[in-house]
Amino acid sequence: MPDPLLVLAVLAASAVGLWAWRRWHYASFWLIVGFPLMAISVRASWRRVALGCGLTKKRQRWWFTTVPGAIASTGLVKVRRRFQRIAVDTKPFMWLPMPTRYGWRVTLCTLEGQIPGDYADAAERLAHSWGVHAVRVTSDKPGRVRLAATMRDPLVKVDHLPPSPDLLKVTVGRLETGKPWVVDFRTIPHWLNAGATQSGKSNLANALIVGLAPQPVALVGFDLKGGVEFTPYASRLSALACDRAESVDLLCDLVGLMIDRMGLCRQAAARNIWQLPPAIRPVPVVVLVDELAELYLMADKSEKDEVARTSTALLRVAQLGRAFGIYLFCCGQRIGSDLGPGVTALRAQCSGRICHRVNDPETATMTLGDLDPAALASARTIAADTPGVAIVASSDGQWYRARSFYVSEQIAEHTAKAHADLTPPWDEITAHITEPINA
Ligand SMILES: Nc1ncnc2c1ncn2[C@@H]1O[C@H](COP(=O)(O)OP(=O)(O)OP(=O)(O)O)[C@@H](O)[C@H]1O
Ligand SMILES: [Mg+2]
Repeated sequence: MPDPLLVLAVLAASAVGLWAWRRWHYASFWLIVGFPLMAISVRASWRRVALGCGLTKKRQRWWFTTVPGAIASTGLVKVRRRFQRIAVDTKPFMWLPMPTRYGWRVTLCTLEGQIPGDYADAAERLAHSWGVHAVRVTSDKPGRVRLAATMRDPLVKVDHLPPSPDLLKVTVGRLETGKPWVVDFRTIPHWLNAGATQSGKSNLANALIVGLAPQPVALVGFDLKGGVEFTPYASRLSALACDRAESVDLLCDLVGLMIDRMGLCRQAAARNIWQLPPAIRPVPVVVLVDELAELYLMADKSEKDEVARTSTALLRVAQLGRAFGIYLFCCGQRIGSDLGPGVTALRAQCSGRICHRVNDPETATMTLGDLDPAALASARTIAADTPGVAIVASSDGQWYRARSFYVSEQIAEHTAKAHADLTPPWDEITAHITEPINA
Protein backbone atom coordinates (compact mmCIF):
# COMPACT_ATOMS: atom_id res chain seq x y z
CA MET A 1 0.00 0.00 0.00
CA PRO A 2 1.70 3.24 -1.12
CA ASP A 3 2.06 5.95 1.47
CA PRO A 4 -0.76 8.55 0.83
CA LEU A 5 1.65 11.33 1.68
CA LEU A 6 4.08 10.08 -0.92
CA VAL A 7 1.28 9.88 -3.53
CA LEU A 8 0.24 13.42 -2.71
CA ALA A 9 3.82 14.62 -2.92
CA VAL A 10 4.30 12.93 -6.32
CA LEU A 11 1.02 14.42 -7.61
CA ALA A 12 1.96 17.89 -6.37
CA ALA A 13 5.45 17.60 -7.89
CA SER A 14 3.95 16.51 -11.24
CA ALA A 15 1.47 19.39 -11.19
CA VAL A 16 4.26 21.89 -10.47
CA GLY A 17 6.42 20.27 -13.14
CA LEU A 18 3.65 20.53 -15.73
CA TRP A 19 2.92 24.11 -14.75
CA ALA A 20 6.61 25.02 -15.08
CA TRP A 21 6.88 23.20 -18.41
CA ARG A 22 3.82 25.03 -19.72
CA ARG A 23 5.19 28.33 -18.59
CA TRP A 24 8.72 28.00 -19.86
CA HIS A 25 8.20 26.13 -23.12
CA TYR A 26 4.58 26.37 -24.12
CA ALA A 27 5.14 25.04 -27.67
CA SER A 28 6.46 21.62 -26.55
CA PHE A 29 3.97 21.43 -23.68
CA TRP A 30 1.12 22.09 -26.06
CA LEU A 31 2.31 19.48 -28.58
CA ILE A 32 2.95 16.68 -26.07
CA VAL A 33 0.37 17.26 -23.33
CA GLY A 34 -2.16 19.96 -24.20
CA PHE A 35 -3.02 19.04 -27.76
CA PRO A 36 -3.64 15.26 -27.29
CA LEU A 37 -5.99 15.98 -24.37
CA MET A 38 -7.73 18.71 -26.35
CA ALA A 39 -8.07 16.47 -29.43
CA ILE A 40 -9.69 13.67 -27.38
CA SER A 41 -12.09 16.12 -25.76
CA VAL A 42 -13.01 17.75 -29.10
CA ARG A 43 -13.73 14.38 -30.73
CA ALA A 44 -15.65 13.15 -27.69
CA SER A 45 -17.78 16.27 -27.43
CA TRP A 46 -18.41 16.80 -31.14
CA ARG A 47 -21.94 15.35 -31.22
CA ARG A 48 -23.07 17.49 -28.30
CA VAL A 49 -21.32 20.59 -29.58
CA ALA A 50 -22.65 20.20 -33.13
CA LEU A 51 -26.15 19.70 -31.76
CA GLY A 52 -25.87 22.74 -29.50
CA CYS A 53 -24.53 24.91 -32.31
CA GLY A 54 -27.24 23.85 -34.76
CA LEU A 55 -24.88 22.05 -37.13
CA THR A 56 -26.66 18.69 -37.16
CA LYS A 57 -29.31 17.42 -39.57
CA LYS A 58 -32.17 15.02 -39.03
CA ARG A 59 -31.78 11.82 -41.01
CA GLN A 60 -34.00 8.77 -41.26
CA ARG A 61 -32.24 5.68 -39.93
CA TRP A 62 -33.20 2.11 -39.15
CA TRP A 63 -32.82 1.79 -35.41
CA PHE A 64 -33.75 -0.57 -32.58
CA THR A 65 -36.27 1.25 -30.41
CA THR A 66 -38.21 0.24 -27.37
CA VAL A 67 -41.96 0.57 -27.69
CA PRO A 68 -44.58 0.07 -24.96
CA GLY A 69 -46.27 -3.28 -25.31
CA ALA A 70 -48.88 -4.95 -23.14
CA ILE A 71 -49.56 -3.85 -19.60
CA ALA A 72 -49.04 -6.79 -17.34
CA SER A 73 -51.54 -7.60 -14.61
CA THR A 74 -48.98 -6.31 -12.09
CA GLY A 75 -49.36 -2.82 -13.61
CA LEU A 76 -45.89 -2.87 -15.16
CA VAL A 77 -45.51 -1.78 -18.75
CA LYS A 78 -43.72 -4.37 -20.82
CA VAL A 79 -41.54 -2.85 -23.50
CA ARG A 80 -40.59 -4.52 -26.73
CA ARG A 81 -37.58 -3.84 -28.93
CA ARG A 82 -38.47 -3.11 -32.49
CA PHE A 83 -36.38 -2.36 -35.57
CA GLN A 84 -37.92 0.72 -37.22
CA ARG A 85 -37.12 3.91 -39.10
CA ILE A 86 -36.69 6.97 -36.91
CA ALA A 87 -35.23 10.48 -37.33
CA VAL A 88 -31.82 10.84 -35.68
CA ASP A 89 -29.53 13.87 -35.40
CA THR A 90 -26.49 13.39 -37.61
CA LYS A 91 -23.33 15.38 -36.97
CA PRO A 92 -20.90 16.44 -39.72
CA PHE A 93 -18.04 13.98 -40.11
CA MET A 94 -14.93 15.19 -38.34
CA TRP A 95 -11.39 14.21 -39.40
CA LEU A 96 -8.60 13.98 -36.84
CA PRO A 97 -7.69 17.34 -35.28
CA MET A 98 -4.15 18.50 -36.08
CA PRO A 99 -2.00 20.73 -33.87
CA THR A 100 -1.04 24.23 -34.99
CA ARG A 101 1.29 26.76 -33.39
CA TYR A 102 -1.48 28.46 -31.46
CA GLY A 103 -4.13 25.76 -31.24
CA TRP A 104 -5.49 23.14 -33.58
CA ARG A 105 -7.37 22.70 -36.82
CA VAL A 106 -9.77 20.11 -38.04
CA THR A 107 -11.54 19.37 -41.32
CA LEU A 108 -15.27 18.64 -41.42
CA CYS A 109 -17.44 17.24 -44.22
CA THR A 110 -20.53 19.40 -44.53
CA LEU A 111 -23.97 17.84 -44.44
CA GLU A 112 -26.47 18.25 -47.28
CA GLY A 113 -27.70 21.82 -47.59
CA GLN A 114 -24.89 23.29 -45.48
CA ILE A 115 -22.46 25.97 -46.64
CA PRO A 116 -19.27 27.28 -44.97
CA GLY A 117 -21.28 30.36 -43.94
CA ASP A 118 -23.35 28.17 -41.59
CA TYR A 119 -20.16 27.20 -39.77
CA ALA A 120 -18.89 30.80 -39.78
CA ASP A 121 -22.16 31.87 -38.16
CA ALA A 122 -21.67 29.25 -35.46
CA ALA A 123 -17.95 30.07 -34.96
CA GLU A 124 -18.46 32.07 -31.79
CA ARG A 125 -20.71 29.37 -30.32
CA LEU A 126 -18.10 26.73 -31.19
CA ALA A 127 -15.35 28.79 -29.55
CA HIS A 128 -17.36 29.06 -26.33
CA SER A 129 -18.32 25.39 -26.36
CA TRP A 130 -14.67 24.31 -26.64
CA GLY A 131 -13.36 27.08 -24.38
CA VAL A 132 -10.94 28.46 -26.98
CA HIS A 133 -10.10 32.05 -27.89
CA ALA A 134 -11.55 31.95 -31.40
CA VAL A 135 -12.59 29.60 -34.18
CA ARG A 136 -12.01 30.64 -37.78
CA VAL A 137 -13.77 28.90 -40.66
CA THR A 138 -12.31 28.45 -44.13
CA SER A 139 -13.16 26.21 -47.03
CA ASP A 140 -10.74 25.19 -49.74
CA LYS A 141 -12.89 22.48 -51.32
CA PRO A 142 -16.64 22.14 -51.89
CA GLY A 143 -18.19 19.99 -49.19
CA ARG A 144 -15.33 20.59 -46.73
CA VAL A 145 -14.79 23.22 -44.09
CA ARG A 146 -11.75 23.72 -41.97
CA LEU A 147 -12.06 24.98 -38.42
CA ALA A 148 -8.95 26.61 -36.99
CA ALA A 149 -9.08 27.16 -33.25
CA THR A 150 -6.67 29.43 -31.39
CA MET A 151 -6.26 28.69 -27.69
CA ARG A 152 -5.33 32.24 -26.75
CA ASP A 153 -5.00 35.48 -28.66
CA PRO A 154 -1.65 35.27 -30.47
CA LEU A 155 -1.76 39.01 -31.10
CA VAL A 156 -1.52 40.12 -27.47
CA LYS A 157 2.24 40.35 -27.85
CA VAL A 158 4.09 40.39 -31.15
CA ASP A 159 7.86 40.22 -31.65
CA HIS A 160 10.16 42.85 -33.03
CA LEU A 161 10.21 43.97 -36.62
CA PRO A 162 12.40 41.60 -38.69
CA PRO A 163 14.47 42.91 -41.61
CA SER A 164 12.72 42.99 -45.00
CA PRO A 165 15.34 42.15 -47.62
CA ASP A 166 13.01 41.73 -50.62
CA LEU A 167 12.37 44.80 -52.73
CA LEU A 168 9.01 46.49 -51.96
CA LYS A 169 8.05 43.70 -49.58
CA VAL A 170 7.85 44.54 -45.88
CA THR A 171 6.96 42.27 -42.98
CA VAL A 172 4.94 44.69 -40.89
CA GLY A 173 3.46 42.40 -38.27
CA ARG A 174 2.06 38.99 -37.55
CA LEU A 175 -1.17 37.29 -38.62
CA GLU A 176 -3.31 35.45 -36.08
CA THR A 177 -2.16 32.20 -37.72
CA GLY A 178 1.39 32.97 -36.60
CA LYS A 179 2.51 33.70 -40.16
CA PRO A 180 4.16 37.02 -41.01
CA TRP A 181 1.95 39.88 -42.16
CA VAL A 182 3.54 41.10 -45.34
CA VAL A 183 2.76 44.25 -47.31
CA ASP A 184 4.03 43.47 -50.80
CA PHE A 185 3.66 46.40 -53.20
CA ARG A 186 4.67 44.27 -56.20
CA THR A 187 1.63 41.99 -55.63
CA ILE A 188 -0.81 44.60 -54.30
CA PRO A 189 0.29 48.06 -55.44
CA HIS A 190 -2.15 50.33 -53.58
CA TRP A 191 -3.39 50.07 -50.01
CA LEU A 192 -6.06 51.62 -47.83
CA ASN A 193 -5.34 51.69 -44.12
CA ALA A 194 -8.34 52.86 -42.08
CA GLY A 195 -9.13 53.04 -38.39
CA ALA A 196 -10.33 55.24 -35.58
CA THR A 197 -7.98 57.64 -33.88
CA GLN A 198 -5.23 55.89 -31.86
CA SER A 199 -5.92 52.58 -33.56
CA GLY A 200 -2.39 52.17 -34.92
CA LYS A 201 -2.48 53.55 -38.49
CA SER A 202 0.62 55.72 -38.18
CA ASN A 203 2.46 52.93 -36.39
CA LEU A 204 1.90 50.78 -39.47
CA ALA A 205 3.23 53.57 -41.67
CA ASN A 206 6.29 53.71 -39.37
CA ALA A 207 6.77 49.97 -39.82
CA LEU A 208 6.67 50.47 -43.59
CA ILE A 209 9.21 53.30 -43.42
CA VAL A 210 11.55 51.18 -41.30
CA GLY A 211 11.17 48.23 -43.70
CA LEU A 212 11.58 50.27 -46.88
CA ALA A 213 14.32 52.66 -45.68
CA PRO A 214 17.21 50.24 -46.38
CA GLN A 215 15.81 49.38 -49.83
CA PRO A 216 16.58 51.16 -53.12
CA VAL A 217 13.21 52.93 -53.24
CA ALA A 218 12.11 56.55 -53.08
CA LEU A 219 9.69 57.41 -50.27
CA VAL A 220 7.27 60.28 -50.66
CA GLY A 221 5.16 61.55 -47.76
CA PHE A 222 1.86 63.39 -47.65
CA ASP A 223 1.32 64.30 -44.03
CA LEU A 224 -1.89 66.26 -43.79
CA LYS A 225 -1.48 66.45 -40.01
CA GLY A 226 0.71 69.47 -40.72
CA GLY A 227 3.81 67.33 -41.02
CA VAL A 228 3.97 66.22 -37.39
CA GLU A 229 4.02 62.52 -38.28
CA PHE A 230 6.49 62.34 -41.18
CA THR A 231 8.79 65.36 -40.66
CA PRO A 232 11.09 63.37 -38.30
CA TYR A 233 11.69 60.94 -41.18
CA ALA A 234 12.33 63.73 -43.74
CA SER A 235 15.95 62.66 -44.23
CA ARG A 236 14.77 59.42 -45.88
CA LEU A 237 11.86 61.02 -47.75
CA SER A 238 12.52 62.25 -51.26
CA ALA A 239 9.61 64.68 -50.94
CA LEU A 240 7.17 65.68 -48.22
CA ALA A 241 3.94 67.67 -48.47
CA CYS A 242 2.44 68.95 -45.24
CA ASP A 243 -0.68 70.78 -46.45
CA ARG A 244 -3.03 70.71 -49.39
CA ALA A 245 -1.28 73.39 -51.42
CA GLU A 246 1.99 71.47 -51.21
CA SER A 247 0.10 68.26 -51.90
CA VAL A 248 -1.30 69.59 -55.18
CA ASP A 249 2.20 70.45 -56.41
CA LEU A 250 3.64 67.14 -55.31
CA LEU A 251 0.77 65.19 -56.88
CA CYS A 252 1.32 67.10 -60.14
CA ASP A 253 4.97 66.03 -59.99
CA LEU A 254 3.90 62.44 -59.47
CA VAL A 255 1.52 62.56 -62.44
CA GLY A 256 4.30 64.12 -64.54
CA LEU A 257 6.69 61.42 -63.38
CA MET A 258 4.18 58.78 -64.36
CA ILE A 259 3.72 60.25 -67.82
CA ASP A 260 7.47 60.46 -68.25
CA ARG A 261 7.88 56.80 -67.29
CA MET A 262 5.06 55.91 -69.68
CA GLY A 263 7.13 57.41 -72.51
CA LEU A 264 10.21 55.53 -71.35
CA CYS A 265 8.35 52.21 -71.33
CA ARG A 266 6.77 52.91 -74.72
CA GLN A 267 10.16 53.61 -76.28
CA ALA A 268 11.61 50.40 -74.85
CA ALA A 269 8.47 48.40 -75.79
CA ALA A 270 8.01 47.47 -72.14
CA ARG A 271 4.66 47.16 -70.41
CA ASN A 272 5.98 48.27 -67.06
CA ILE A 273 9.21 49.46 -65.50
CA TRP A 274 10.09 45.93 -64.38
CA GLN A 275 10.46 44.89 -68.03
CA LEU A 276 13.04 47.64 -68.62
CA PRO A 277 16.75 46.76 -68.49
CA PRO A 278 18.06 47.39 -64.95
CA ALA A 279 20.41 50.11 -66.23
CA ILE A 280 17.56 52.39 -67.29
CA ARG A 281 14.90 51.20 -64.83
CA PRO A 282 13.70 54.15 -62.74
CA VAL A 283 13.56 53.92 -58.97
CA PRO A 284 10.22 52.71 -57.52
CA VAL A 285 8.34 55.33 -55.53
CA VAL A 286 6.23 54.50 -52.47
CA VAL A 287 3.78 57.26 -51.60
CA LEU A 288 2.61 57.36 -47.99
CA VAL A 289 -0.46 59.46 -47.26
CA ASP A 290 -1.50 60.14 -43.65
CA GLU A 291 -4.94 61.65 -42.88
CA LEU A 292 -6.23 61.15 -46.42
CA ALA A 293 -9.58 62.81 -45.67
CA GLU A 294 -7.84 66.18 -45.28
CA LEU A 295 -7.09 66.10 -49.01
CA TYR A 296 -10.82 66.04 -49.75
CA LEU A 297 -12.40 68.23 -47.08
CA MET A 298 -13.26 71.77 -48.03
CA ALA A 299 -14.26 74.60 -45.71
CA ASP A 300 -15.83 76.73 -48.45
CA LYS A 301 -16.35 76.87 -52.19
CA SER A 302 -13.02 78.61 -52.83
CA GLU A 303 -11.28 75.30 -52.06
CA LYS A 304 -13.38 73.34 -54.52
CA ASP A 305 -10.92 73.70 -57.37
CA GLU A 306 -7.97 72.66 -55.28
CA VAL A 307 -9.82 69.61 -53.93
CA ALA A 308 -10.88 68.62 -57.43
CA ARG A 309 -7.29 68.84 -58.71
CA THR A 310 -5.94 66.87 -55.75
CA SER A 311 -8.59 64.23 -56.13
CA THR A 312 -8.03 63.82 -59.88
CA ALA A 313 -4.25 63.63 -59.56
CA LEU A 314 -4.40 61.05 -56.76
CA LEU A 315 -6.85 58.98 -58.74
CA ARG A 316 -4.62 59.10 -61.83
CA VAL A 317 -1.66 57.93 -59.76
CA ALA A 318 -3.78 55.08 -58.38
CA GLN A 319 -5.09 54.09 -61.80
CA LEU A 320 -1.82 54.11 -63.70
CA GLY A 321 0.92 54.15 -61.08
CA ARG A 322 1.43 50.41 -60.68
CA ALA A 323 2.99 49.80 -64.09
CA PHE A 324 5.32 52.76 -63.63
CA GLY A 325 6.54 51.86 -60.16
CA ILE A 326 4.45 54.32 -58.14
CA TYR A 327 2.69 52.73 -55.18
CA LEU A 328 0.19 54.20 -52.73
CA PHE A 329 -0.37 53.60 -49.05
CA CYS A 330 -3.26 55.78 -47.83
CA CYS A 331 -4.11 56.09 -44.13
CA GLY A 332 -7.27 57.74 -42.84
CA GLN A 333 -9.89 57.56 -40.12
CA ARG A 334 -12.74 57.36 -42.56
CA ILE A 335 -12.37 56.80 -46.27
CA GLY A 336 -16.02 57.10 -47.24
CA SER A 337 -18.04 58.32 -50.17
CA ASP A 338 -19.15 61.30 -48.03
CA LEU A 339 -15.76 62.81 -48.91
CA GLY A 340 -16.75 62.96 -52.58
CA PRO A 341 -16.85 60.78 -55.67
CA GLY A 342 -13.04 60.91 -55.99
CA VAL A 343 -12.69 58.83 -52.83
CA THR A 344 -15.02 56.11 -54.04
CA ALA A 345 -13.01 55.82 -57.26
CA LEU A 346 -9.73 55.82 -55.31
CA ARG A 347 -11.06 53.13 -53.02
CA ALA A 348 -11.89 50.95 -55.99
CA GLN A 349 -8.26 51.17 -57.13
CA CYS A 350 -6.82 50.15 -53.77
CA SER A 351 -7.02 46.40 -53.53
CA GLY A 352 -4.99 46.18 -50.33
CA ARG A 353 -7.34 46.77 -47.41
CA ILE A 354 -6.44 47.15 -43.76
CA CYS A 355 -9.08 47.98 -41.19
CA HIS A 356 -7.92 48.86 -37.68
CA ARG A 357 -10.36 49.38 -34.81
CA VAL A 358 -13.37 51.33 -36.02
CA ASN A 359 -16.19 53.05 -34.16
CA ASP A 360 -19.00 52.37 -36.59
CA PRO A 361 -19.89 49.45 -38.86
CA GLU A 362 -20.03 51.70 -41.97
CA THR A 363 -16.31 52.47 -41.80
CA ALA A 364 -15.50 48.76 -41.62
CA THR A 365 -17.79 48.09 -44.58
CA MET A 366 -16.27 50.97 -46.55
CA THR A 367 -12.76 49.73 -45.94
CA LEU A 368 -13.23 46.02 -46.29
CA GLY A 369 -15.95 46.17 -48.93
CA ASP A 370 -18.20 43.18 -49.24
CA LEU A 371 -15.78 40.81 -47.56
CA ASP A 372 -17.17 38.04 -45.38
CA PRO A 373 -19.57 39.60 -42.79
CA ALA A 374 -17.54 37.84 -40.10
CA ALA A 375 -14.57 40.06 -41.06
CA LEU A 376 -16.69 43.16 -40.50
CA ALA A 377 -17.90 41.84 -37.17
CA SER A 378 -14.32 41.02 -36.19
CA ALA A 379 -13.16 44.57 -37.07
CA ARG A 380 -15.76 45.97 -34.71
CA THR A 381 -14.66 43.79 -31.82
CA ILE A 382 -11.01 44.96 -31.86
CA ALA A 383 -10.35 46.24 -28.36
CA ALA A 384 -9.11 49.77 -27.76
CA ASP A 385 -6.29 48.41 -25.58
CA THR A 386 -4.77 46.48 -28.49
CA PRO A 387 -3.68 49.23 -30.91
CA GLY A 388 -2.13 47.87 -34.08
CA VAL A 389 -4.62 44.99 -34.37
CA ALA A 390 -6.36 45.07 -37.75
CA ILE A 391 -8.34 43.02 -40.20
CA VAL A 392 -6.35 42.48 -43.37
CA ALA A 393 -7.82 41.42 -46.69
CA SER A 394 -5.12 39.19 -48.09
CA SER A 395 -4.06 38.49 -51.67
CA ASP A 396 -5.27 34.87 -51.30
CA GLY A 397 -8.86 36.15 -51.01
CA GLN A 398 -9.03 35.38 -47.30
CA TRP A 399 -9.12 37.82 -44.42
CA TYR A 400 -7.01 37.67 -41.30
CA ARG A 401 -6.71 39.33 -37.93
CA ALA A 402 -3.24 40.72 -37.62
CA ARG A 403 -1.17 43.04 -35.48
CA SER A 404 1.60 45.33 -36.58
CA PHE A 405 4.95 45.31 -34.80
CA TYR A 406 5.26 48.24 -32.48
CA VAL A 407 7.64 50.75 -34.09
CA SER A 408 8.24 53.80 -31.94
CA GLU A 409 8.81 57.18 -33.57
CA GLN A 410 12.36 57.11 -32.21
CA ILE A 411 13.18 53.81 -33.95
CA ALA A 412 11.60 55.00 -37.21
CA GLU A 413 13.45 58.30 -37.00
CA HIS A 414 16.75 56.59 -36.22
CA THR A 415 16.30 54.16 -39.17
CA ALA A 416 15.37 57.00 -41.52
CA LYS A 417 18.50 58.93 -40.50
CA ALA A 418 20.71 55.84 -40.74
CA HIS A 419 19.65 55.32 -44.36
CA ALA A 420 19.46 58.96 -45.38
CA ASP A 421 22.24 58.35 -47.93
CA LEU A 422 19.89 56.05 -49.88
CA THR A 423 17.36 58.85 -50.43
CA PRO A 424 17.12 59.68 -54.13
CA PRO A 425 16.74 63.49 -54.43
CA TRP A 426 13.33 64.50 -55.77
CA ASP A 427 14.91 66.84 -58.34
CA GLU A 428 16.86 63.92 -59.73
CA ILE A 429 13.79 61.68 -59.91
CA THR A 430 11.73 64.33 -61.66
CA ALA A 431 14.59 65.68 -63.79
CA HIS A 432 13.19 64.20 -66.99
CA ILE A 433 9.70 65.67 -66.66
CA THR A 434 9.53 67.79 -69.76
CA GLU A 435 6.43 69.91 -69.38
CA PRO A 436 4.75 71.03 -66.15
CA ILE A 437 1.65 69.02 -65.43
CA ASN A 438 -1.58 70.57 -64.26
CA ALA A 439 -3.72 67.93 -62.69
N1 LIG B 1 1.24 47.40 -32.96
C1 LIG B 1 1.26 48.14 -31.87
N2 LIG B 1 1.65 47.61 -30.69
C2 LIG B 1 1.65 48.36 -29.57
N3 LIG B 1 1.27 49.64 -29.51
C3 LIG B 1 0.87 50.21 -30.63
C4 LIG B 1 0.83 49.51 -31.88
N4 LIG B 1 0.38 50.33 -32.84
C5 LIG B 1 0.14 51.51 -32.22
N5 LIG B 1 0.44 51.44 -30.91
C6 LIG B 1 0.29 52.54 -29.93
O1 LIG B 1 -0.98 53.14 -30.10
C7 LIG B 1 -0.87 54.54 -30.13
C8 LIG B 1 -1.61 55.08 -31.32
O2 LIG B 1 -0.99 54.67 -32.50
P1 LIG B 1 -1.00 55.56 -33.81
O3 LIG B 1 -0.44 56.90 -33.56
O4 LIG B 1 -0.33 54.74 -34.86
O5 LIG B 1 -2.56 55.66 -34.06
P2 LIG B 1 -3.30 56.40 -35.23
O6 LIG B 1 -4.36 55.47 -35.70
O7 LIG B 1 -2.33 56.90 -36.24
O8 LIG B 1 -3.96 57.61 -34.46
P3 LIG B 1 -4.36 59.05 -35.05
O9 LIG B 1 -5.56 58.83 -35.91
O10 LIG B 1 -4.64 59.84 -33.84
O11 LIG B 1 -3.18 59.55 -35.85
C9 LIG B 1 0.61 54.89 -30.19
O12 LIG B 1 0.94 55.60 -29.05
C10 LIG B 1 1.34 53.59 -30.19
O13 LIG B 1 2.25 53.59 -29.14
MG1 LIG C 1 -1.91 58.80 -37.09
